[in-house]
Amino acid sequence: MILIIDFGSQTTHLIGRRIKDLGVPVEIAIPKNALSSALKIKPRGIILSGGPASTYGKNALLVDGKIFKLGVPVLGICYGLEVMGQMLGGQVAPGKKKEYGSTSFTLTKNNPLFANLGKNKNTFTVWMSHFDQVIKVPTDSIVVGSTPDVKIAAFANVKKKQYGIMFHPEVHHTQYGNQILSNFIINICGEVSQKRNINTSQLIKKIKLEIGAQKAVCALSGGIDSAVAAVLTHEAIGDKLTCFYVDTGLMRLGETDQITQTFKVHFKLKLQVIHAEDIFLSALKGITDPEEKRKIIGETFIRIFEKEAQKLGTKYLVQGTIYPDVIESKGTNHAHKIKTHHNVGGIPEKHGFKIIEPLRQFYKDEVREIAKELGFPGSIISRHVFPGPGLAVRIIGEITKEKLDILRRADAIVVDELRKAGLYEKIWMGFAVFTGVKSTGVTGDERKYGETIALRIIESKDTMTADWARLPYELLERISSRIVTEVFEVVRVVYDITTKPPATMEWE
Ligand code: XMP
Repeated sequence: MILIIDFGSQTTHLIGRRIKDLGVPVEIAIPKNALSSALKIKPRGIILSGGPASTYGKNALLVDGKIFKLGVPVLGICYGLEVMGQMLGGQVAPGKKKEYGSTSFTLTKNNPLFANLGKNKNTFTVWMSHFDQVIKVPTDSIVVGSTPDVKIAAFANVKKKQYGIMFHPEVHHTQYGNQILSNFIINICGEVSQKRNINTSQLIKKIKLEIGAQKAVCALSGGIDSAVAAVLTHEAIGDKLTCFYVDTGLMRLGETDQITQTFKVHFKLKLQVIHAEDIFLSALKGITDPEEKRKIIGETFIRIFEKEAQKLGTKYLVQGTIYPDVIESKGTNHAHKIKTHHNVGGIPEKHGFKIIEPLRQFYKDEVREIAKELGFPGSIISRHVFPGPGLAVRIIGEITKEKLDILRRADAIVVDELRKAGLYEKIWMGFAVFTGVKSTGVTGDERKYGETIALRIIESKDTMTADWARLPYELLERISSRIVTEVFEVVRVVYDITTKPPATMEWE
């Protein structure tokens, strides 16, 4: 078992994921409970995560120093490195420059944490996101790596097996990140890998056992998670499952038809489609704040769902909660809230249903594996993630039917061209954003004052970080010229070239 002390990093659960992928169990604790958790579970290694706090000053967030004396290997990542720097006899100070995104790391001294890297092992790309820096290493530690802006980007006390790294090995964009984590977990901590298998028929059996002869209800969101949870449950209890799909009016072009086709026709689920566009649009009238939009959409959805579900008199509610949702909703005490991630289909606690969550322990790619096994059409499996609040968070400013209609048509062109270019499945997401910025154009010698559409086309492996896709210019040109000719209201198309961090994937 590895213990992660979570200082509130946005990527703490990703560290957990990487360790689980290595086949090693992991537990996450908050700093206050670091020592008691370590004494209780006796981990083979401790990881101190990143986090938004500072290690000095009044609000410093530290741990009980005894965890460094347990004789257990410790790896500090980003803020975790600063905690070690501060607590083990080193020194931390504000950096001269804030560093976000990729930078080049130079290994200055070989050590076990950086063993078995590839041929570029002396200089490679890493991801950083920090303000402070360690300016003096802990007692008996040595500097083992640096970046152009950070002299002490990694330190090591090989004898005590205590290591600190400024970059995030858990994010996909860090070259050799997995190998570095594996070096720590397997080689330094001495963990043994036990890979786990997904057994779909076992999952179905478990649902059958839980629900028995009762009836159940499930809200389909259009996403893969709720879809897989529903089909698994259908395999278990057949027509005793009723699915609802609420068309919020915030969906993509043709989405409702596609969902009806897939679940009613292909999977033969009992599906009720509720057309609620007018209700959502009137609830959203005049609202421009993104968080308020999310809240209103979540609440409106719940009201509609509860009303319909109660009519059926079911006892069980099936939800497509997956492992990252479980971790994120636990809310690590020290993480900053970036966005309220309203999983439409996420029903509040006081509803009287018993909750069935067959996918609680799985990651998105594992859910996709299960979907494949259940015979999902490829087009559904490979569909890009779509946020619960739908196009409402891709329209800046007030939501109106007209704007939704413009955005839907532009978005369909983006998806169509990406598919035609054979790139749709290679990227994480590709979509259009209604920026709300009006600008001047000229068509057929006439002045035209129209809308600006932004393209957000990104690559990511783990949701937490993303890079904008380097698409061929010809493809960008095709998308742009089709949008301005086929979507009459638009006069300008721009390409969003911001990474995450510092930007997020969705504009709101
Ligand atoms: P951000 O914009 O936070 O997005 O970088 C990360 C991923 O999460 C999706 N997303 C949401 N999903 N409800 C959801 O169910 C939401 O409110 C929400 N906001 C963002 C987003 O599409 C991306 O895949």
